[in-house]
Amino acid sequence: MRIAIATDHGGFSLKETVIESICAAGHEVLDFGTDSPESVDYPDIVEKAGRAIQNGEAERGVFLCGSGIGVAIAANKMKGLYAAICHNTYAAAQGVEHDGMNVLCLGARVIGPEIVKKVVPAFLGAKFIGKEPGQERHARRVEKVKKIERE
Ligand code: RB5
Repeated sequence: MRIAIATDHGGFSLKETVIESICAAGHEVLDFGTDSPESVDYPDIVEKAGRAIQNGEAERGVFLCGSGIGVAIAANKMKGLYAAICHNTYAAAQGVEHDGMNVLCLGARVIGPEIVKKVVPAFLGAKFIGKEPGQERHARRVEKVKKIERE
C-alpha cells in the first residue's frame, strides 16, 4: 500500500521512525511534510495528505502531531478519512477491522519510538472484516457512519 504521512513540528521527532516502520512492513511512503522541527500549522499538512487519500494516490495515512488530537480532528473533517488516535496495537488493528479506520494518528509528546514500531505494523497489517460472513454488523455500522457523513 501507499501510505501518506503528515506531521507538524510536534510530531516531527517520530516521523523517521514512522517512515522506517512503514517501509519495514513492505509499504511505500508518500511524505507530505513537515521536514523540520520549525513551527507549522497541522491543518495545512493534514489537508495535503488527506487529499492524496481522497484521490486514491494513497490508501491510508499516518498523521502525527504533539498529542495526535489536532491531526485527528482535522482529518475527520475530510470526507472519506476515518482517523483515530491509537497508542496501542489492539486499537490500531481493531480500528481498521471493525471501523474502517484509514488514518492512524499518533502523538509524539505522548508515545515514543518503541510503541510506534509496534502500532504502525498493527495498523498496516489489519483489514476491514465487515465483508466476511458473520461480520456484516461492522459493515452496517460503517454504512451508518457514512450516512451521517453524507448528511
Ligand atoms: C503544537 O504545539 C501542538 O499543538 C500540536 O502538535 C498538536 O499537539 C495539536 O493537537
